[in-house]
Amino acid sequence: MQIVSTIAAARETRARLDGTLGFVPTMGFLHEGHLSLVRRAQEECDAVAVSIFVNPTQFAPDEDLNRYPRALERDLSLLREAGVSLVFTPDAGEIYPPGFDTSIDVGEVSRPLEGAFRPGHFSGVATVVAKLFNIIQPTKAFFGQKDAQQCAVISKLVTDLNIPVEVVVCDIVRNEKGLALSSRNSYLSKSEQERALLLHDSLGKAEGHIAAGERNASTIRALIGDILSKDADFCVDYISVADPHTLTELENIDDEALISLAVRVGATRLIDNVVVRKK
Ligand code: PAJ
Repeated sequence: MQIVSTIAAARETRARLDGTLGFVPTMGFLHEGHLSLVRRAQEECDAVAVSIFVNPTQFAPDEDLNRYPRALERDLSLLREAGVSLVFTPDAGEIYPPGFDTSIDVGEVSRPLEGAFRPGHFSGVATVVAKLFNIIQPTKAFFGQKDAQQCAVISKLVTDLNIPVEVVVCDIVRNEKGLALSSRNSYLSKSEQERALLLHDSLGKAEGHIAAGERNASTIRALIGDILSKDADFCVDYISVADPHTLTELENIDDEALISLAVRVGATRLIDNVVVRKK
């Protein structure tokens, strides 16, 4: 496994890899969710590259950039064990040298939901992912459905800018109780971790109602709202029933819908979602 932290070394190492290359961009503090993307990339490609970069431009000034969890040595040993060929671990100065002044705005799909609550977030994500694609030049790139809107934004970026990378979206990995794995779960106390299970429970109940024939999106939003309101310490940012590709809110659930939510559990902001499809 080659570990490189400069763009020049990443390009040189990449050039020596034969066949198709799968790429998994991450911010590190790896868990099974990240590793599931690595395994999928290995199944589909001849070699796999992973980046570990806590991208400052996707954090708002009041967010958790400085306390974002880091465990580089542990991450590297997990990736070595997994059989990854290339790990790119740049520092912020390598990615954003003095004078850097470009940012990508992916338009309407980046505006609602996470985009509304985290202004500038998707511009930071789109810009760094475009740079990483240009540096690593992968055949395919693997993203988690956990960040559903991020997947929609990256897919639009790749389409609109004709970037020759195939985006592969991978299922959400959850713990045995249903909590979606996230590096930020490490901020949760034991009691918060238990209470956070309500997020997945509420999505499951919504899914059940839709399977039983409910088509009204407002009814589904209200149902989830009722469940989440049972915990007085939850602060709900949004509950959305939207088109999975455009993220526009739906009135009726016809073919497919992305049901997503963001909740602050104490000081920690969690997101989760499920996609429902008519049989
Ligand atoms: P990060 O939060 O580290 O996530 C890296 C990738 O892992 C993303 O595609 C994310 O959706 C996926 N992932 C996280 N938790 C998951 C889970 N429980 N199941 C499946 N996949 C999961 O997302 C980012 O980093 C950054 O925004 C990045 C794309 C690297 C740009 O900076």
